[in-house]
Amino acid sequence: MKIILVGYGRMGKAVEAAALRRGHSVAAKVDPVAEDAGVAGTLTPDLLKNADAVIEFALPQGIETNTSLYAEAAVPAVIGTTGWEDRRETVAASVIRDGGTVLWGNNFSVGAHLLFKLTAEISRLTEKLPDYDIMIHEFHHKMKKDSPSGTALTLAEKVLENNHRKTVVQTQTLNRAVRPEELHVVGIRGGFLPGVHTVTVDGPFDTVELTHTARSRDGFALGAVMAAEWLIGKKGFFRVEDFIDDLFRKEL
Ligand SMILES: NC(=O)c1ccc[n+]([C@@H]2O[C@H](COP(=O)([O-])OP(=O)(O)OC[C@H]3O[C@@H](n4cnc5c(N)ncnc54)[C@H](O)[C@@H]3O)[C@@H](O)[C@H]2O)c1
Repeated sequence: MKIILVGYGRMGKAVEAAALRRGHSVAAKVDPVAEDAGVAGTLTPDLLKNADAVIEFALPQGIETNTSLYAEAAVPAVIGTTGWEDRRETVAASVIRDGGTVLWGNNFSVGAHLLFKLTAEISRLTEKLPDYDIMIHEFHHKMKKDSPSGTALTLAEKVLENNHRKTVVQTQTLNRAVRPEELHVVGIRGGFLPGVHTVTVDGPFDTVELTHTARSRDGFALGAVMAAEWLIGKKGFFRVEDFIDDLFRKEL
């Protein structure tokens, strides 16, 4: 595949390496700030011509403009950019209206998807055990701009879908007792960690902790390239889970 990288920061560079390792080529890189050689400052319809796929790890401000350019150019796009939950439905509607192809995900690491599945299961099991409470925390490097992380919000979604005692995701600092229906989700920032997510299930006598630790960005990058391979030939607005569920079905 000829891939266009939109966003050439830490993740863009990791995706480039993963794409080359899987035998793809990088046709163009776009980033308004990156000073590396061969990086275009602006995304234009011309750049998208002749590309097989776009992989975007950028910042959420450009999401509407970028996704409509991808749809207009009929280039399938994998979006790893996080922090646009508030615009998800508008973007989905315009991608579908314009006949485009977008797959988005808050986490492209296969290991993190194992944590999502385990979180769904433990949330379901503890629904009938009201003494066991659930909470989520995550650590990320000091440069990360959104908090809590998109992955933490996806974990929260899994809890709410499977444990009906929890109905509200609470991301604020609490200067009062947490309510039983609130799921407290907290992001901690500092250092260089590429991402550590923990779901804690705590009862009166014991604690169960499920943790995913990313050791580098390579797992996210590989997942994004594999998702782009999967997306070729499809039409519509997909979640990374559509690709992962297919992968788990084939591998297991
Ligand atoms: N989905 C996942 O698996 C996953 C994993 C890691 C990071 N992320 C997300 O990916 C994004 C990028 O992370 P990062 O660590 O590479 O950040 P980064 O700050 O290192 O790089 C982001 C780059 O995007 C560029 N950019 C901003 N707006 C742009 C636009 N409109 N077009 C093109 N480039 C643009 C910036 O100049 C910057 O160089 C963040 O939203 C992060 O949360 C997602």
